[in-house]
Amino acid sequence: MPKDRTKIAKCLFPAAGYGTRFLPATKAIPKEMLPVLTKPLLQYGVEEALSAGIQTMAIVTGRGKRAIEDHFDISYELEHQIKGTSKEHYLTEIRDVITKCTFSYTRQVEMKGLGHAILSGETLIGDEPFAVVLADDLCHNGGDSVLTQMVKLYDRYKCSIVAVEEIPIEDSNKYGVIAGNAEEDGVIRVTDMVEKPDPKDAPSNLAIIGRYILTPDIFDIIRETKPGKGGEIQITDALLAQAKEGKVVAYKFKGKRFDCGSVDGFVEATNYFYNKSGV
Ligand code: G1P
Repeated sequence: MPKDRTKIAKCLFPAAGYGTRFLPATKAIPKEMLPVLTKPLLQYGVEEALSAGIQTMAIVTGRGKRAIEDHFDISYELEHQIKGTSKEHYLTEIRDVITKCTFSYTRQVEMKGLGHAILSGETLIGDEPFAVVLADDLCHNGGDSVLTQMVKLYDRYKCSIVAVEEIPIEDSNKYGVIAGNAEEDGVIRVTDMVEKPDPKDAPSNLAIIGRYILTPDIFDIIRETKPGKGGEIQITDALLAQAKEGKVVAYKFKGKRFDCGSVDGFVEATNYFYNKSGV
């Protein structure tokens, strides 16, 4: 059967950042491999993508990130050691992920911002719409995962989608912030977006969190996007070009989101998943 290029089949994971807020833990370990309970952040992201029907994972890594590739691969020594023992169940989830997904990798050679990281992944994505997951935004919902909700929305809107949530306005300088017009319950047609504005300049209290669906024209737009906030090439600025043509919607997702890029959020996530696990 020919490939349906309107379906979301690939998920891009920018995973090249240094994780400075978690030093010294992230000196030799990628921040995406830090575990919430026993599972690395990136595995949560991959499982979320899988739950949304996505099986091709495209990971943009950088120097010092080889542990990621080893994690999503069979460890024959470990398999040999653990097979048939009472500990085998510890491997169930990761084995499932490895069986169902295909992983491809590219390296972001220079750290020039999230927009640049996404552009680095073009070679893995090609000319089709795709999802983006920032693994340090850990999301959980008892029903449909956040990405599942967004994939369903994409089927109806066929344009780029950003996940948003309401934040205290004093936090606006930590996020991309959007403005727009209500399209339906929980869906906003974006008219403006600003990367990390001062609270006084924020166009609303709706912040983008690390879940996106992007149409592939974004790559050409990123190529044309000048460095913005912090001198980096921002995905928010590239998306603004699409938004000006009415081609971006923001989605107020259902579920919880933890900012695992901060120590506070990481601890909150750990407590939440610990309580939920009933250990
Ligand atoms: C990035 C984006 C920002 C978005 C945030 C979500 O920022 O640039 O627009 O709101 O992710 O987590 P970062 O957290 O990488 O600085």
